[in-house]
Amino acid sequence: MAGKYKTITLVKSIITVKYDQLIIYYFSGTGNSRNAAIWIEKIAKEKGLQTHLINIDRFKTVDVPELSKRTLIGFCSPTHGFNMPPIVLKFLLKFPKVNNVDTFILNTRAGMKLSKMFVPGLSGGAQLFAAFILTLKGFRIVGMQPLDLPSNWLLLHPGLKEKVVDSIYKRCRGIVNNFATNILEGKRKYKALLSLPFDIAVLPIALAYYFIGRFFLAKTLIATDACNNCKICINQCPVKAIKMIDGRPFWLYNCESCMRCVNSCPQRAIETSHGWSTMLLIVSSIIISPVLVTGLKYIGVQYWFNQSMLTRNLWSIIDALIFLLFVFVSYRILHFLMRYKIINRLIAYTSLSKYKFWRRYKAPKQ
Ligand SMILES: Cc1cc2nc3c(=O)[nH]c(=O)nc-3n(C[C@H](O)[C@H](O)[C@H](O)COP(=O)(O)O)c2cc1C
Repeated sequence: MAGKYKTITLVKSIITVKYDQLIIYYFSGTGNSRNAAIWIEKIAKEKGLQTHLINIDRFKTVDVPELSKRTLIGFCSPTHGFNMPPIVLKFLLKFPKVNNVDTFILNTRAGMKLSKMFVPGLSGGAQLFAAFILTLKGFRIVGMQPLDLPSNWLLLHPGLKEKVVDSIYKRCRGIVNNFATNILEGKRKYKALLSLPFDIAVLPIALAYYFIGRFFLAKTLIATDACNNCKICINQCPVKAIKMIDGRPFWLYNCESCMRCVNSCPQRAIETSHGWSTMLLIVSSIIISPVLVTGLKYIGVQYWFNQSMLTRNLWSIIDALIFLLFVFVSYRILHFLMRYKIINRLIAYTSLSKYKFWRRYKAPKQ
């Protein structure tokens, strides 16, 4: 009897499904977005769809399996700086044009839990920019789903406790199952649009993060003397942003701060250098920028820059570039100085991530 009931529900679900093939492209620093993609794939498989799960780490070309007339393509990615990570935006921009293919976008965000309340992250432009590019490519957006999985942003806070992670995961699993079932049955779901006013309000921050912030963050990661040169961080980096210089990992400007290296180092040797980064910000804002402004005022350049809106904006861009140059040069010097024990210890012990209470985060395996 139970077998008969199972067969009937399987047949029913196959009949109600709109697609025969599901392709999901995903990027994931610490595993949340990969897990969401796996959950959706599982539902699709249960409904009899042919599925392809494609990880876009280190992609050179965009591989698209042969599309049937009833193909659904999904994109799963974390949110970085109120936007999709640059690797995902590049991937979307390189995606070949299609003709009216259905697609969904799922962005995982910084979910938290305060007492018994689930606190959501904020997508900013993540869904909007991705939807814009995909529409230009000829896709039909049928689903936009944010998903508040545990925050992995270890620069800002310690990894969440296991109990909290489990309860956030349980909640999100239900949300994803619901979303996937609806989309596969041909319904349209745009949950991401519920927070539109907030998302639009933070768009300037998203742009500032994309053009300036992320380059600074790339230079906040360092390896201490605990590093044993195992090269796991180098081999696992999704954008090849770490190289070995003088026997110590060195983070290049194209690092996406996805936190994979920090969380997968078996020696816990990678730190998010809080003390050093704060010092850089202070020095740059109270010494470098004011000295430069005074110097330029002295030679009359500042006067010219203050003349119009356009030149004032140009001045802000130059200011940001000088800041980044200062950060890059300082990082190179720091990397050299880390060979001295005293500097190494100073940087390590002024990083909050050095201490035990600053837990690492890796998504639970599904
Ligand atoms: C550099 C960085 C920036 C982030 N920016 C945001 C953000 O703007 N909004 C948000 O809700 N979550 C943000 N997060 C949190 C992640 O998007 C979230 O934890 C995600 O689930 C991680 O997915 P992954 O494990 O697939 O990498 C950020 C995390 C990192 C590391």
